[in-house]
Amino acid sequence: MTNVRDIQAEIMRLKKENDICILAHSYQGHEILEVADFTGDSYALSVKAKGVTNKNVLMCGVRFMAETVKILSPEKRVILSHPEAGCAMADMMDKEIISQLKPKYEDYTIVAYVNTTAALKTICDVCVTSSSAVQIVKNIDNDNILFIPDCNLGAYVAAQVPEKNIKLLSGGCPIHAAVSTRDVEKAKALHPGVKILVHPECRPEITELADFIGSTSEIMDYARTSDDKEFIIGTELSIAEHLQYEFPDKAFYPLSVGLVCKNMRLTTLMDVYNCVRGMGGEEIELDPDTIRDAKKCIDEMIRLNHE
Ligand code: 13P
Ligand code: SF4
Repeated sequence: MTNVRDIQAEIMRLKKENDICILAHSYQGHEILEVADFTGDSYALSVKAKGVTNKNVLMCGVRFMAETVKILSPEKRVILSHPEAGCAMADMMDKEIISQLKPKYEDYTIVAYVNTTAALKTICDVCVTSSSAVQIVKNIDNDNILFIPDCNLGAYVAAQVPEKNIKLLSGGCPIHAAVSTRDVEKAKALHPGVKILVHPECRPEITELADFIGSTSEIMDYARTSDDKEFIIGTELSIAEHLQYEFPDKAFYPLSVGLVCKNMRLTTLMDVYNCVRGMGGEEIELDPDTIRDAKKCIDEMIRLNHE
């Protein structure tokens, strides 16, 4: 094999032969999305994980996403594409920190962003993703919410659902949180009049300046359906790249060139090739108690995500 196309063809053959479904988060590289059976944001991938019929699932993304697949489909063999692909935000808050805080928040519903470890999910009440958080918080039958770990997504939700008492802890995505108002000024000066689309993991002073706030898939859908020809994209650089492939006649500019998630970029096409031939990656193993307790939290997310 000498080129990307040959490797992709071999991956397609091997995943069929070995009964593997490839799920890939939208932050993965273009050449990986091309061999995936399903791509999308964290919510879409979670829902998809429930309905996969293959015996094996390869998650091209980060650890909490592979854990979510395992929790929803414990009978399947779930492989994370790169053993070191973690999430800086998920690694920030552990079960012990929240266990210690729980007595202080007895009357609160604990809402956990899906970017959390499986262990932490076991002591939370409901999971949310960036695309479902507002709707789910509205539907929770409690006005008191403790939102963890992302204080930026939490602040965005609090602004959309002002009728609820939402307490935040200080955590978040260091990559999105590093976007500054200076980046916004620079991008506006370089591309006057161009709309700014940002992820809710950006800080409130950034989301306030944006024209649209949404998850990775929502940002892509906005750009797909808009008549505009240019966009400034405020999330991981891969999203602007995918959009550029899809719409060669439109232009997508990064809000900041610092928007690079090194964990998401760890997985290469050769890692995917190795995983589908039974080498590399890491099989996700969770004990039955963790699966049982964390599942409640994810099932609640799917149950409460309705108008
Ligand atoms: P999405 O819910 O938009 O897929 O976001 C996941 C994520 O990790 C963003 O940094
Ligand atoms: Fe985690 Fe941030 Fe990377 Fe998303 S971009 S996977 S929140 S570190």
